Amino acid sequence: TLTQAEKAAVVTIWAKVATQADAIGAESLERLFSSYPQTKTYFPHFDLSQGSAQLRAHGSKVMNAIGEAVKNIDDIRGTLAKLSELHAYILRVDPVNFRLLSHCILCSVAARYPSDFTPEAHAAWDKFLSSVSSVLTEKYR
Ligand code: HEM
Repeated sequence: TLTQAEKAAVVTIWAKVATQADAIGAESLERLFSSYPQTKTYFPHFDLSQGSAQLRAHGSKVMNAIGEAVKNIDDIRGTLAKLSELHAYILRVDPVNFRLLSHCILCSVAARYPSDFTPEAHAAWDKFLSSVSSVLTEKYR
């Protein structure tokens, strides 16, 4: 679980990220699909070319879910319960992919807010995204 200081660091950076959430979401997916092309297999029905409408819409949805998790940082599990069922039972995304996407989100945030992305902020966001990922993958077993 995150310490109070880590939660505060996540909330502080989110306030900035929220203003550009759609762009950061799309960039994170672009990074995911170009660095880890195997992840594209989950989106055979998408136009994944850079800047496509589907990619941007999906990036927006992903960041929206992350925003909900930030707002409810003491109940990430309850907040993402439905998404957890979707990813486990319907989409069947291999849990390894959550690490990859989390990494790409971190890169996108770091690239956009370099001076806010201190080692402490980095560690707090890494831990937060791990919590989100654990919740989204915990229904698999
Ligand atoms: C759908 C969030 C990780 C594959 C979604 C949706 C959200 C979401 C909000 C839309 C749900 C809806 O329409 O009701 C997240 C979050 C993630 C994450 C917050 C982790 C931080 C992943 C990963 C993959 C993935 C790692 C695979 C590489 C998909 C697919 C869909 C989906 C295939 C359905 C897309 C569609 O047909 O519209 N996700 N997701 N997700 N997600 Fe994730």
